[in-house]
This record gives sequence, C-alpha cells and structure tokens, in this order.
Amino acid sequence: MTDPLLDIRNVTVSYRQPGVGRLTAVNDVTLSLGRGEVLGLVGESGCGKSTLARSICGLEPVESGSISFNGRQVGRLGFGRRPRELVAIQMVFQNPFASLNPRRTIGSQIEDGLRANPRPDTWTVAGLLDEVELDRSSIARYPHEFSGGQRQRIAIARAIAAGPDLLIGDEAIASLDASLQAKIARLMRKLALESDAALLFISHDLAVVRVIADDVAVMNRGVIVEKGPVAQVWNAPQNEYTERLLSAIPAVDGLGRLPATV
Ligand SMILES: Nc1ncnc2c1ncn2[C@@H]1O[C@H](COP(=O)(O)OP(=O)(O)OP(=O)(O)O)[C@@H](O)[C@H]1O
Ligand SMILES: [Mg+2]
Repeated sequence: MTDPLLDIRNVTVSYRQPGVGRLTAVNDVTLSLGRGEVLGLVGESGCGKSTLARSICGLEPVESGSISFNGRQVGRLGFGRRPRELVAIQMVFQNPFASLNPRRTIGSQIEDGLRANPRPDTWTVAGLLDEVELDRSSIARYPHEFSGGQRQRIAIARAIAAGPDLLIGDEAIASLDASLQAKIARLMRKLALESDAALLFISHDLAVVRVIADDVAVMNRGVIVEKGPVAQVWNAPQNEYTERLLSAIPAVDGLGRLPATV
C-alpha cells in the first residue's frame, strides 16, 4: 500500500499559557488524507483545529508524534524559511489580513502563487479572479481596498494559483455571505480535485462541510472523537459530543438531520 499524502500520527501540540501552565491544544491526533479526498474538520471554537492546521504546515512545533507529507517529515520551520516541498501545502488562514502583504497589489501576490505552480499554465491571474468572483480590475489594487470577504477570496485564489497537493482552508469561507459560502466551498473542492490534490476543510459551518466533504473528523478539546464518511457521521453519530454538535444545527427535516444536499 502506498503512503497517504498526509499522514498525521499521534500528534500532540501544547502551549505554555501564563498563569495556567501547559494547555494541550492537540492531543494524540491520528489522521490521514489521500489525493482526491476532502476531509472536513469540525469542532467548537478553541478545540484545536487551527493549531492542527498550523502544525501540518510546519508552523507549530509538534511535541510528540509525527506528521509526514508526501513521505517526508514536516518539522518546525525557522522564521522566513519554507522548504520547497512545503509550497505544495497551501493554507488559507482564518485571518486574511495576516496572510496578504499590504504593500503589494493583489495581482502580484497571485502571480507569486503561479510562479510556484509545478504546472504554471493551469491558470492566469484573471482566470482565478473570475473563479472567485472578483472583478479583473482588482489586479492593480491593494489588500486594504477590499472587504474582509473579498480578501478571503483573494487568499483562496493565491493558494489555488500555487497548484498545491494539499489545500487547507481554515474557516476560509467564514467571512463570506451565505450565498457565496457554499459556492466558494464547492469551488475549493472542485479545484482541489481537478488537480488530484487533497482538501482539508476546517469550518464551524456543519451544513457546508456536509455538502463538500467526503469524510468528517470531529474534534473536541484537542481530541478527534469521531471520524467517518459524512453521511454516516450525520445520520448515526457514534459519539455523544458529535450528537450534541449536530443537534445544534437547525433541524431541516424535522429530525435535526440535514438532507443529502443543501
Ligand atoms: N499561540 C498560542 N499560545 C497559547 N495558547 C494558544 C495559542 N494558540 C492557540 N492557543 C490555545 O489553544 C487552543 C486551541 O486553539 P485553536 O486556535 O487551535 O482553536 P480552534 O479550534 O481553531 O478555534 P476557532 O474555531 O475559534 O478558530 C485554545 O484554547 C487557544 O486558546
Ligand atoms: Mg481556528
């Protein structure tokens, strides 16, 4: 059997918090993800989703366990250094203010992504802006000239431009209008799968995860409490926490369950 694209084994990440001691944000997590797969990661605020995502990108030190990507260990990276093989992991951060350079036009930032793409002819800047429904005139504008939701879409366009093997969206659609959320989420799925990549989709929005993910992992206080195909987890949750999380979604079919498509 070939190794999965992303292999997370027994990973624990903790933080030192003043006055509190050490907080275990990610606790003995084991997950894997193969090409062509979309995994949703859900759980309450503060349960450790972003911490796990950052450690996959090598941005958070792993205390124990291992993360391998394309068969190579992802270690902690020094500031400003990003080994070439990790360009194949593109993350859309929860806060797009932090990830876009305020001094450069968005066109030039998307071009950076294209330059990193192993198949550079896949996209043009204009084509990507069309995909995320931004006007082509945006090319010459700067990040501060856009709304939060628009910036989020720019960050998605830049991540896709790089032709990643693994695309991670950390609440990537949270600041978009409801009408655009499902559309952009589907777009991320489509673009990832078209290039035989994998998508790790982190979201508070269980309804969107239900629609775009194949499998879902449910996280509670740093621990993955359940993982399985979305339909199975939705209709027959095995864990009490998952049940509570799902019952918090407004009932659509009268049973607190969502129909197959939303
Ligand atoms: N740099 C840090 N230093 C100390 N504690 C941190 C740090 N980053 C996160 N934490 C703590 O780790 C826990 C997990 O945080 P994390 O950001 O991973 O949660 P999350 O699931 O992404 O939440 P949200 O849905 O609100 O984004 C929280 O209790 C948080 O306070
Ligand atoms: Mg988060």
